[in-house]
Amino acid sequence: MSRVSVVTGAASGIGRATKELLESRGERVIGVDIHDADVIVDLSTAEGRAGLADGVRRVDDGPVDAVLAIAGLAAAAPPTVAVNYFGTIATLEGLRPLLAGSPAPRAVLVSSMAALMPTDGELVGLLAAGDELAALARAGELAQDPATTGAQIYSSTKLALDKWVRRQAATEQWAGAGIPLNAVAPGIIATPMTADLIGTPEARHALLGLVPMPLNGIAEPIVVARLLAWLTSEENTHLCGQIVYVDGGSDVVLRGDSVW
Ligand SMILES: NC(=O)c1ccc[n+]([C@@H]2O[C@H](COP(=O)([O-])OP(=O)(O)OC[C@H]3O[C@@H](n4cnc5c(N)ncnc54)[C@H](O)[C@@H]3O)[C@@H](O)[C@H]2O)c1
Repeated sequence: MSRVSVVTGAASGIGRATKELLESRGERVIGVDIHDADVIVDLSTAEGRAGLADGVRRVDDGPVDAVLAIAGLAAAAPPTVAVNYFGTIATLEGLRPLLAGSPAPRAVLVSSMAALMPTDGELVGLLAAGDELAALARAGELAQDPATTGAQIYSSTKLALDKWVRRQAATEQWAGAGIPLNAVAPGIIATPMTADLIGTPEARHALLGLVPMPLNGIAEPIVVARLLAWLTSEENTHLCGQIVYVDGGSDVVLRGDSVW
């Protein structure tokens, strides 16, 4: 029997490439997005998140083998907090019960190398505490700050996701249930999210100054899709709580050997 995966953010970019890759391998994908998907939900709202599992069941009421939480926003504004952090956690926690019937259940989320950039400690703390109202308010303050204009919102959501994966992966609900839970951290990927940032040679040069990618430069979404496909495949039996950088080397350049 072919595997069944739920992919959020399936309408565009990395999510779309992942859906197409899995389908090209004969697997079944239930796409989730705010538009152009099998299940249309707004992951920025509590109502949308609450309807996710039922929406998936309506499309396919059998077991799900993999959950891939890919949907995200990069805007320097509060909705990025709602989608990237609370939407992602709600996807993984809300769909985890559907993995129970799979012989090889898997889960992954998409973080970013941006977690290595400056972050806001207060926002990261509020995210870890699960306080969405306060986190949205803090993001609103950051967006208004003339010094940073909200630049730390996106990076903070991704750092908070990394920390969540590290806290959760070895618990009864995930490792104890036989579910490898991991994250990928892409560098710059050519998708609609980054189109404006890499649209001219000058813009690309400036961005690569911040996010150095000595190995093959800016990547296409299929590069991340292949890694996501492996992490959620039957072959991945023992990767637990890892943040896997698929970034052309930006992590290595920025952090060197300082990670141990
Ligand atoms: N492109 C990059 O350089 C890059 C780098 C690192 C990490 N990422 C991460 O990869 C993931 C995918 O990004 P992408 O580059 O493919 O961007 P994209 O904009 O092409 O795709 C994002 C998808 O998420 C969906 N989405 C946004 N808000 C939603 C909501 N409220 N409810 C449901 N779906 C919603 C969008 O409709 C879209 O289909 C994101 O989590 C992003 O942060 C991207």
